Amino acid sequence: MMSQISNALSDFFFEYETPRQVLVRNRRVGVVCRLIQLGVLAYIIGWVFIYEKGYQSTDTAVSSVFTKMKGVGYTNIEGRERVWDVADYVFPPQGDSSFVVMTNYIITEGQKMGKCPELQGKHNCSSHADCEGGSFKRTGHGQMTGVCLNATKTCEVLAWCPVEDDVKIPDPPMLMSAVNYTLFIKNSVTFPLFGVSRSNLVENIDNAYISKCLYDPTDAPLCPIFRLGDIVKLSGFKFETIARVGGAIGIVVDWTCNLDVDVKHCIPKYTFHGLYGNAAETDQARASVGYNFRYAKHYLEDKEQKRTLLKVFGIRFDIIVQSLARKFDIIPTLTAIGSGVGIFGVATVVCDLVLLYLLPKREFYKNMKFKYTDSHVQPDSESLGIETSTYYTFEANARQVQGTGQSNDPDSEACSTETEVCKK
Ligand SMILES: *[C@@H]1O[C@H](CO)[C@@H](O)[C@H](O)[C@H]1NC(C)=O
Repeated sequence: MMSQISNALSDFFFEYETPRQVLVRNRRVGVVCRLIQLGVLAYIIGWVFIYEKGYQSTDTAVSSVFTKMKGVGYTNIEGRERVWDVADYVFPPQGDSSFVVMTNYIITEGQKMGKCPELQGKHNCSSHADCEGGSFKRTGHGQMTGVCLNATKTCEVLAWCPVEDDVKIPDPPMLMSAVNYTLFIKNSVTFPLFGVSRSNLVENIDNAYISKCLYDPTDAPLCPIFRLGDIVKLSGFKFETIARVGGAIGIVVDWTCNLDVDVKHCIPKYTFHGLYGNAAETDQARASVGYNFRYAKHYLEDKEQKRTLLKVFGIRFDIIVQSLARKFDIIPTLTAIGSGVGIFGVATVVCDLVLLYLLPKREFYKNMKFKYTDSHVQPDSESLGIETSTYYTFEANARQVQGTGQSNDPDSEACSTETEVCKK
């Protein structure tokens, strides 16, 4: 018992087994196999390593954005001059990464709580029965009192009076001067995995440059100050349209960095996209065009609460930071190499298929490759089946080929004297 165990142990430790391989001298199989291996090699080097950069690990950034608008608008309505500054036209005012710049508005001043007629059009009535008291209409401005007013032929409502009339959107937009406003973007990103922090005010951007530069895709691609007209144009829209009814534009700050090179090459790239609607589409074709919201300023006058209502049409800007940093890392490198080596196995499988199932001499090669056992008869050399004898013939042939480097035609009767089977 002990000796059996020690034999097994010594077998385990002092022996090494390695698979025996069959060398096939066949041009077709050889070429197919090498071509597949070449393809796999090209895939690993060209695609995995060079194109997909499989030797690097990646990380996305945590980022923060701060914005600031500059510019002044001017309106003159029936002799009433007014200037609109940043505090008047930016919503919300904190400098968020998502904000609205007002370009057009409908103002309703001096509203107070009371009873007044609804707008003409959607809310017409012919008798008191059309204006059920205490109920609301979905598109109405207030609670109906149950009275159909004769003068206007509309229902009377309890609401902020007078009700807003937003049927006609001012055209041209009230604040066309918005085309010359500028937007300043401050953005910082940190790649936590690599411990790298960057800001869009990169190395050669200093105060002197910022004070006079204006973003241009070719001349000043790193200037963080953007003219609104340029942003709208680069997103593919017309400023006149978007300023009249409003719209949404995404400013994408793209940080795609290769940290294997100097970090100063890690710079932002700005692109501009219309966020809904298609610049080419005609406005009439769409159901809900533009972007607007209502905003009210409340005040007390003669101890009575009043408000000024603004329906604001504007351009909504969303600043979207996109980031991907890459840096050499040993683990993805080894993973890529390992999977590449694994794919080499495909070549073996395909060539085996060709060899064993497609070639005219496939039966012969099959016999060479596999060693058959006979389950009924003792496999001694006298009772070997026909396949096994072919096998030996081939083995003999192969040995002869190895030994002499001559005849490699497996069909030739080449029983050299060296082989045991032929001796028999
Ligand atoms: C915008 O600025 C340009 C150049 O300063 C000026 O010619 C143009 O009239 C301005 N546009 C508006 C709408 O104010």
